[in-house]
Amino acid sequence: MVTLEVEKQPAGTSGFPIIGSMAEFARDPIKFVTRLQRDYGDVAAFSLMGSKSVLVSDPQAVDRILVETGKRYDHGKRNPSLAMQKILGNGLVTSEGDFWKRQRKLIAPAFHHQSIKKYADQIVEYTQDLAKTWQPGTTRDLHQDMMSLTQRIIMKVLFDVDVQGTVIGDVTGSFDAMMHALGAEQTGIEAILPDFIPTPSRRQMQEAVTHVNGLLLELIEQRRKEGSEQRDLLTMFMETRDEDGQPMSDEQLLDEIRTLYLAGHETTATTLSWAWMLLSQNPEAYAQVEAEVDRVLNGRTPTSDDVPQLAYCNAVIKESLRCYPVAWITRRVPLEDVEINGYHIAGGTFVFLSPWVLHHDSRWFEKPDAFMPERWLKDKAEQPLREAYIPFGGGPRVCIGNGFAMMESVLILAALAQKHHVALLPEHRVELEIAGTLRPKSGLEATLTARSL
Ligand code: HEM
Repeated sequence: MVTLEVEKQPAGTSGFPIIGSMAEFARDPIKFVTRLQRDYGDVAAFSLMGSKSVLVSDPQAVDRILVETGKRYDHGKRNPSLAMQKILGNGLVTSEGDFWKRQRKLIAPAFHHQSIKKYADQIVEYTQDLAKTWQPGTTRDLHQDMMSLTQRIIMKVLFDVDVQGTVIGDVTGSFDAMMHALGAEQTGIEAILPDFIPTPSRRQMQEAVTHVNGLLLELIEQRRKEGSEQRDLLTMFMETRDEDGQPMSDEQLLDEIRTLYLAGHETTATTLSWAWMLLSQNPEAYAQVEAEVDRVLNGRTPTSDDVPQLAYCNAVIKESLRCYPVAWITRRVPLEDVEINGYHIAGGTFVFLSPWVLHHDSRWFEKPDAFMPERWLKDKAEQPLREAYIPFGGGPRVCIGNGFAMMESVLILAALAQKHHVALLPEHRVELEIAGTLRPKSGLEATLTARSL
């Protein structure tokens, strides 16, 4: 047990008795965390349903906390919400300790640089399939398109299954129910109700998980019967043995697949949706994307080797992730009393870190509310502060799919921008929905124009 010399407590708001700041947080969580940092500084105290909480917004302190996760902090998922338990189970996002370490080691090779390069052709092939269905002059919900596309890609590259036109490819409703339930546990009535009380959102979530599990079990059974030539993750999961020689249980298998399937497509799809919206609203930046794609690809199909050459497209994705970090908040819990920037923080306090707050802070980003992809270009004299940009988290629990997500997003953007120009419908107001992640509330209606080179 470490005795801390510092006694100073951070300033903050205590909110209402019992619920603390829950109502304000639930009404508009982004506004709440932004105000908290502005009014009380980089270590700001508040309370949520009786849980002592602080929001830390100093980049160096945030970096230390992320790096020390697993040592002085735990991942904050020790008491997962009901939705997390049901949806993500004990998969890679939620597991802790030695079990998490073993699973991470097992899954990591699928995301190594050399492995993800091999996925590039598949990403482009499926993107071109989508591009062929885009009819010039028509209106589409781009968000829906990005969701179906990234879902098809993740299931193929990780588990060698093409879900297009199958029942698994048509689980949007189930998926929405899960994301709503995750959001509701943060900001809805579910945040204050005990787990045993059923609510419509909880009921729909349970039905959704059961439905998706049923479909995934069929897939597992089929693989058991037929095997696969591919060394994909599904085969690896099924062949792995623990130190006692035991295989993964079906339950664990389902938790890992559901986790990778969910974490591996909604985040990338939503990032692409924000990129399309921002490009549509910033014609000069959009013109640079099209010029770069035409120059680098010269009408060719993109490959993994083109990704580093598409510098402006990379910058667009990075900037979209700065403006709209889909995983906008995360949490850690100190295992014992710790000092953060001169303040005494008791063990067990919820320590919140918000990419949204860091990314919109004018101390770290010039004109933080403007979409400026050029801030990420390598020839720019001053690059943004590394620790202030955390769309993929950091430390040992950094997103395992970050390299894959960047490559996938750039290839999808380039392959679609090569063939079509998209313009958001002027009357379509895009609203933020905080449902687990930060996504466009009513999709993204856009019209398409064919491009000719
Ligand atoms: C633009 C897309 C993505 C964003 C913004 C994103 C963001 C994040 C963030 C912020 C974390 C850390 C959360 C925390 O510290 O509490 C994380 C973890 C994770 N992400 Fe991603 N992610 C993306 C794409 C992907 C993809 C494509 C996969 C592939 C399956 C993936 C799988 C995971 C997993 C499994 C974890 C948990 C890792 C662990 O705890 O060991 N993500 N992601």
